[in-house]
Amino acid sequence: MKILVIGAGGREHAIIRKLKENPDVTAVYALPGNGGIAQDAVCVPGGDVDAAVHFAVKHGMDFVVVSPDGPLCAGMTDALEAAGVPAFGPSKAAAALEGSKIFAKELMRKYDIPTAAWAAFDDPDEARAYLRRAAPPCVIKADGPALGKGSRVCHTMEEALDAVAACMERRVFGESGARIVIEECLTGPEVSVLTFTDGETIAPMISAMDHKRALDNDEGPNTGGMGAVAPILFYTPDRQAECMERIFQPTVRAMRMEGRPFKGCLYFGLMLTPQGPKVIEYNARFGDPEAQTILPLMQNDLLTVMRAVRDGRLADAPPRFRPMHSCCVVLASGGYPGPVQTGFPIHGLNADGQISLPGATIFHAGVKQERGHYVTAGGRVLSVVYTSETLAGAIDGAYQAAYEISFEEMQVRRDIGQAARRAWEDTEARPILQQPEVRPCP
Ligand code: AMP
Ligand code: GLY
Repeated sequence: MKILVIGAGGREHAIIRKLKENPDVTAVYALPGNGGIAQDAVCVPGGDVDAAVHFAVKHGMDFVVVSPDGPLCAGMTDALEAAGVPAFGPSKAAAALEGSKIFAKELMRKYDIPTAAWAAFDDPDEARAYLRRAAPPCVIKADGPALGKGSRVCHTMEEALDAVAACMERRVFGESGARIVIEECLTGPEVSVLTFTDGETIAPMISAMDHKRALDNDEGPNTGGMGAVAPILFYTPDRQAECMERIFQPTVRAMRMEGRPFKGCLYFGLMLTPQGPKVIEYNARFGDPEAQTILPLMQNDLLTVMRAVRDGRLADAPPRFRPMHSCCVVLASGGYPGPVQTGFPIHGLNADGQISLPGATIFHAGVKQERGHYVTAGGRVLSVVYTSETLAGAIDGAYQAAYEISFEEMQVRRDIGQAARRAWEDTEARPILQQPEVRPCP
């Protein structure tokens, strides 16, 4: 089988390496891929919907994985399917769950899915008037996509007024900030739960915890994600059951009822508040770096599961995970998530773009090859992943691997996994690493 994966990040590299475990896969292409992905796939230039459809048809792709939110929201899955190419990923109508925060909030209100209290605005004066009645702390979110930077937690009125002006008047996120959501500020630990759903059935993957802030101790600006661990032990079987009944099944059902059945990877960003789990955000795709963290623990074949999702028979091919732990440490360019300098040689990688430590895998993101050498080419450069029988072993292994690699101005968080480790050490109970269950969503 010939497979095409759309995207250029560490997440796509992790998907590609997992897909290649299937012996029926004879060729993998990445559009556009990157200098490290080139070790595992043929990289094809381009990125828009037309380029992907043209390539897939011309070169006879048997299956396409549409991974990033941009192409999903632009309708790439619909266009591929219309051209007769089977594709994994939600339709444009279903990807609105990520593409518009207001759409997602209205859906949750209509179907009684727990989330932070909110109000939406298209007029900055009305937003300011509302803030005078509902004082900060609050969270101000651009309605449309903003590369993960569109949400700001505001502790003071001054910050909130600035966030309103930045979105709606200075348009720092372009048209994405023409409308905003103002949300109540929730507290509690955050968990990412990625799921497969074919629109009728849902199968969660193991839970994960991202580290979104740039600096240690959750300081500094929000980033795309600086590292992750999985699974999360305070996301206990009881909590999973509660999320399944109150959030996961109702969301899949709601999308079907709205005539937008969701088929693909549906990502639930959850906050475990004292009042129970609530939705912080939906994504219509795998998380990055959650995918790099979780997929190495997947036991069965990813392509089989993805094809089952696309064909509406997920119940026959549920995902399975090894009862182990995984830690991912992101190596970023200095200054990320702000402007970064690139073109620095990356030291410590072998010719395959890997290192020789058994158990460690390197996924490439902002990387290109110049005269046979890997050099930095973006904000997040590499994801270093290590799997182990224990959480401590996974964290230690990931850092041991990370420190074999270096480049000028490399930026790394030193505390990935420490919050999860403390939670683990604080609990008496030792929940078994449960296999997530598959459920119909009638
Ligand atoms: P989002 O862009 O919606 O994923 O939000 C980015 C980050 O902002 C989340 O991972 C949370 O840490 C934080 N956040 C978003 N919404 C809320 C909320 N209602 N209460 C507290 N923190 C939030
Ligand atoms: N890691 C968060 C995201 O992919 O949106």
